[in-house]
Amino acid sequence: MTVPATPLAEAAELADPWPVLAALRESGPVRRLDPRLRLPVWVVARYEDVLAALSDPRLSNDPHHAVALRSLLRGDFLSRSMIGTDPPEHTRLRRLVSKAFTARRVEALRPRVQQITDALLDRITPRGTAELVGEFALPLPITVIGELLGVPAADRERFRAWTDEVLDQPFDPQEDLARVTAARERMHGYLADLVQAKRARPADDLLTDLVEATDEGERLDAQELLAMTFLLLVAGYVTTVNLIGNGTLALLRSPDQLDRLRADPSLVPQAVEELLRFDGPVNPGLTRYAVEDLEIGGVTIPRGDVVLLAVAAADRDPDRFPDPDSLDVGAAGPGHLAFGHGVHYCLGAPLARLEGQIAFTQLLARLPDLALAVDEDALQWSAGGVLRGLKELPVTFTPTPVT
Ligand code: HEM
Repeated sequence: MTVPATPLAEAAELADPWPVLAALRESGPVRRLDPRLRLPVWVVARYEDVLAALSDPRLSNDPHHAVALRSLLRGDFLSRSMIGTDPPEHTRLRRLVSKAFTARRVEALRPRVQQITDALLDRITPRGTAELVGEFALPLPITVIGELLGVPAADRERFRAWTDEVLDQPFDPQEDLARVTAARERMHGYLADLVQAKRARPADDLLTDLVEATDEGERLDAQELLAMTFLLLVAGYVTTVNLIGNGTLALLRSPDQLDRLRADPSLVPQAVEELLRFDGPVNPGLTRYAVEDLEIGGVTIPRGDVVLLAVAAADRDPDRFPDPDSLDVGAAGPGHLAFGHGVHYCLGAPLARLEGQIAFTQLLARLPDLALAVDEDALQWSAGGVLRGLKELPVTFTPTPVT
């Protein structure tokens, strides 16, 4: 049987991917060919189904359950991270770092996040124009997570280039395996050097804590340590960039909501939740692997198959959110699935919220008359199958001198 290609990969690069997501939601779970994995995947897009699936132990986070992916994963140290494992391994790995990301620990970072945000905006405000992704949305979270882990500032640019290579998943296992393997090896070499440097010169940072946990006992082995470092560094910034970029554009497209937020900054925490729901970084969604046959929305998904839980579609489900395609910065409460759900619920959610809240508060306070500097059609989106974000966001505003 031929499986039709999923329109999702192309849709995520469109300014308006929502009609495609809505059609998938309305059709119920369907089997589609994923052009990135070159495999058939089941697309699940209704809120209720996605929510239930995210806490269903029959759907694993471990890609080794997908027979077709095993050869790709051989020797891949990255698949040893908490996001690619199930309990009990997952529980052990997550427990090692969860303390560093509690709401209380994250709150203590507020003054430093504020300082980094202010310093970035000081460079922008006197000019009247800026490219907000490269000059603000990206350097803010990469600096925060880099400092938290203890990655030297000088390495962050190189690290970013490798991340792009590693996250650029193979389109064709035959042709692209060598390129992807080389990128992973470069990343592995860099992380191993970084860990070695921490061992030689321990510091007051999260990476030193993890190195000590590895050296002291059996709690984390050497490969797991590298996988954990990679996951925290990457998950710590690639998503938040898109929260700030996509969110700013969403506000610019809804001037009434932008004005409302400017007039009442106490709405910012709610606005961040609404922006996560409305055009969150994870789009189309999260991948899972069926460990046994199971039924979702009346459809049987066989063991070993790949499932895409389209959280971006779920977060616009009219059965869950009234008027889901309108932005309402005063909308009550979270309930969205932008941070996932269940045991893998985003570990960094408190940090992402803190960064988002400070970023939007300061952007609105310090860039008066914020407007797009280019025609909306000229904006380009990048989509790698999991995340969707703007490549660049050129803006204009009324310049103000730094005091
Ligand atoms: C997991 C989204 C920021 C660290 C996740 C998951 C989602 C997500 C949807 C669940 C993955 C799954 O179920 O397979 C986001 C969004 C962010 C963000 C939208 C920003 C707006 C961060 C930050 C960190 C972080 C700042 C900091 C280190 C993690 C980690 C996991 C994770 C470690 C894996 C948790 C586990 O497997 O138990 N994130 N994230 N994230 N996130 Fe985030």
